[in-house]
Amino acid sequence: MANNSLAHHRPQWKTHIGFVLAAVGSAIGLGNIWRFSYLCYKNGGGAFLVPYLIALFVVGIPLMILEIGLGHKMRGSAPASFASISKRWEWLGWWQIIFVMFGIVLYYSVIISWCLSFFFLSFNLGWTQDTNTFFFQKFLMVSKGPFSIGDLRTPIVFSLLLVWLFNWVIVFNGVQKGLERANKIFMPLLFALIAVIVFWSLRLPGAKEGILLYLKPDFSRLSDVKVWMDAFSQIFFTLSLGFGIMIAYASYLPKKSSIVRDSLTISGINCLFSLFAGLGVFAVLGYMAKTTGQPINKVVTESIGLAFVAFPKAISLLPAFSKFFGALFFGSLVIAGLSSSISIIEAFTSGIVDKFHYSRKAVVSVLSIFGFVGGMIFATQSGLYWLDIVDHFLTQYGLVIAAILECFLVGWIYKASKLREHINRYSVGKLKGWWCLCIKVIAPLVLVMILASSLINEFSKPYGGYSRLAIILIGRDWLIYTLFFALLVASYPWRIEPKERMLT
Ligand code: PHE
Repeated sequence: MANNSLAHHRPQWKTHIGFVLAAVGSAIGLGNIWRFSYLCYKNGGGAFLVPYLIALFVVGIPLMILEIGLGHKMRGSAPASFASISKRWEWLGWWQIIFVMFGIVLYYSVIISWCLSFFFLSFNLGWTQDTNTFFFQKFLMVSKGPFSIGDLRTPIVFSLLLVWLFNWVIVFNGVQKGLERANKIFMPLLFALIAVIVFWSLRLPGAKEGILLYLKPDFSRLSDVKVWMDAFSQIFFTLSLGFGIMIAYASYLPKKSSIVRDSLTISGINCLFSLFAGLGVFAVLGYMAKTTGQPINKVVTESIGLAFVAFPKAISLLPAFSKFFGALFFGSLVIAGLSSSISIIEAFTSGIVDKFHYSRKAVVSVLSIFGFVGGMIFATQSGLYWLDIVDHFLTQYGLVIAAILECFLVGWIYKASKLREHINRYSVGKLKGWWCLCIKVIAPLVLVMILASSLINEFSKPYGGYSRLAIILIGRDWLIYTLFFALLVASYPWRIEPKERMLT
């Protein structure tokens, strides 16, 4: 009954390296280049690596093994895999892919489109001298608040259209010809570009001071709970965990696979990439501090400002080849972003195809149109506020809640030991008992603590100083509506029982 015709029809990665590169492509994204560097700097420099590595080992790697193992065993997307465990939990899979597809990816594509616009701007350093005014007032034309929507920003809409065209073309062509081929080009190219950026920037005057600031540990910061919360939510976001992506990607693996080794490789490459890219980012900031004669902490700007305000400024100051450097930097961001956005479009598509058996090409096409149209709200003058609120709620709550439930479902209802047996049967490296303990107790416990601290913070003061109304209508309700849709889709009957595809 396993390996029936359905399972045989499932697309498969052509090569093992193709799968690893695609998973690495999903993991390495915009989050690795600017988000990690900035978080590291903000949270005690080198000391941040302590909670970051703990988060990696306590929840990152165990969950990566869980998602890849589950996808391999159930041979299905997140909803199909959860439904194979228990129909009552199918909604969780839908909720993950719905809030990521109609939430995270909508604004994530808009940030890629900014990168694309800045890529074009780099050819004549079109961001002018005052990059702050340029980015916020000329490029985004930021309105007064989340409810002053204002107009659509045409240059952003135009780049967004291009981004969705790329997304569409790649995923439309399927697992082997689309995703695998794209990542086989994207990943080596990205590694090469980042290597050029890092080695180039390390030779700039002031680079050493920049890097010292990035990595000099300030251990006193470790007593702050927020530092730990940042480390854990960054690990989820950066490893694309709780998104349903790794489950879908692993469902295209052949029977004989190396689940544990691949999970370690994917997580390791991702985190090393972040550390490495951070060297380049801070070397360039160090250079900027030196040339402008300002203290370095004055030139570092918060989160998004790091890539779109501080960096363009530093690029303009470069003594030679500044345009080329700008194109390299923003080109890398576009590539890193696209290889992540295509992964969730695939995860969503496989969910729909598994359940409703629609043509994959039709699903991808409709989805890309919805993605483009849905992303428009983030391309308006109030887009930055919307993006900030939606990002906060979906990553801080959506991903964390989904991961807690995932641990509970697999650890206690399906039984971690059963999945471990499966993994050990097919995997080269053997998984020990510590993994079950992590999935059943340690990871959910830590995550519940993180969730509780986020909630306490949330109630003590509204996030980012926005009005309560904005927080409720945009942030909280985004989670509630997506949950409602998830329950609705889950209530439809299956044409072919999801369990049928399971690998025994
Ligand atoms: N891992 C990605 C990053 O670090 C996050 C992501 C994955 C976002 C997939 C969207 C889709 O940027």
